[in-house]
Amino acid sequence: MDRLTLDIGRCLQAAVGGGRGLAPEMLAGLTTRLEKARATVLDAAGNGMLGWMDLPCQDPGPLLEFADRNAGRYESLLVIGIGGSALGTTALATALLPFYYNELEPAERGRRPRLYILDNVDPDETAALLDRLELGRTLVNVISKSGTTGESMAGYLVARQRLEAAVGAVALKEHLVFTTDPTAGTLRKIGASLGVPMFDLPAGVGGRFSVLSAVGLLPAALTGMDVMGLLAGARDMAEWTAGAQGWDNPASAYAGVHFLQDTALGRRVSVMMPYSARLRHLSDWYAQLWAESLGKAVDRRGRMVNTGPLPVKALGVTDQHSQLQLYVEGPDDKVLTFLGVGEFATTVAIPAPGPEAEALAYLGGHTLAELLWAEQRSTAWALSKSGRPSLTITLPRVDAFALGGLFYLLEMATAIAGELYDVDAFDQPGVELGKKMTYALMGRPGYEALAEVIAG
Ligand code: PA5
Repeated sequence: MDRLTLDIGRCLQAAVGGGRGLAPEMLAGLTTRLEKARATVLDAAGNGMLGWMDLPCQDPGPLLEFADRNAGRYESLLVIGIGGSALGTTALATALLPFYYNELEPAERGRRPRLYILDNVDPDETAALLDRLELGRTLVNVISKSGTTGESMAGYLVARQRLEAAVGAVALKEHLVFTTDPTAGTLRKIGASLGVPMFDLPAGVGGRFSVLSAVGLLPAALTGMDVMGLLAGARDMAEWTAGAQGWDNPASAYAGVHFLQDTALGRRVSVMMPYSARLRHLSDWYAQLWAESLGKAVDRRGRMVNTGPLPVKALGVTDQHSQLQLYVEGPDDKVLTFLGVGEFATTVAIPAPGPEAEALAYLGGHTLAELLWAEQRSTAWALSKSGRPSLTITLPRVDAFALGGLFYLLEMATAIAGELYDVDAFDQPGVELGKKMTYALMGRPGYEALAEVIAG
């Protein structure tokens, strides 16, 4: 299988010029620290919250069997989760399911269920979705690592009431499957008392690092995505990033370039801009990974640092006509990552125009892919010309192997970046604080003191 490539050439002084690019001595000066950071991550593999490094080698047998056993049984799969319990599945679905999958006839979907992902508590959206689903033929996959997150639990309670009304209390458990911590949390308890099938999210895997666990893989298996391909791609990337040294290591290079751009050149904003509609939600997943892992108040020594790069989502070519003006001429505080694709599944030729449209003759005879590639190249060039840096990750094609590798690459890069910034990349105290405040406002027992703080 071909591997993805990472090109950092347009971050270097030679490409962007003057004092605004990375000089060879800057790269050389970081190499030892980069290797130390990578070694620290590798040494901790599987321990603490680094359980995500074990995921590529997991046995997906039980979830594949569950999916096979239930193939053809459900018309719809409703995933209820938020943050890391939803973003990876959304990215997977957009990348690997056919476009407009939910509109296909059952035979065109291989009798696999339509996929809906509820990651918000907007009442209009929730009610509209539940009204639309044929609940008697729906499987609801509730996903929550903690098993307590208010939004997901509220979604569960609302969906459960509707399901019970539609199928009755006895059949309820036939329409539920939970993905949660192996032992802890309210969801685990509910599942055990109702006899709901449950899949484990291993204790050492945090939400935003969980896409290659049952969190992403169960919906993937149920909708017929290539689970084995995803894991093979992730395994290959795990081997690559464990073996390659210094700047030849794609995860180290990604982390190192972003770290230097931020700390040495004042470019704190990391824009991810895929030139593939299939990868548009990969940027949402990445935004959470990069932001929640690296945005921290204190460093490992407890010093107040209020550090962290700012991830921004964009899409080529669409955002060339929306955000690019800012990137080329606005504040020089960004580094762009282009996600390119070597080969698209479909060739769409642009027809030669008739005599009435001779001004468009330059387009005729090309393909849409050629236009997309030209747009990506010209955007990268225009940025360099203005002294703005960019990196390019190119996937040979968008398939399960490439996706598995890309997820793992960015997770590894995030872990290495955490070492460089000297922060805990695996906690999220800011998010937890917000969760606790919500519990207090909603009257959860045990949070009365916080409720008084908010009121007072
Ligand atoms: O990455 C994280 O840990 C968070 O974004 C969580 O995924 C998110 O808060 C949802 O938490 P949970 O899966 O516990 O419901």
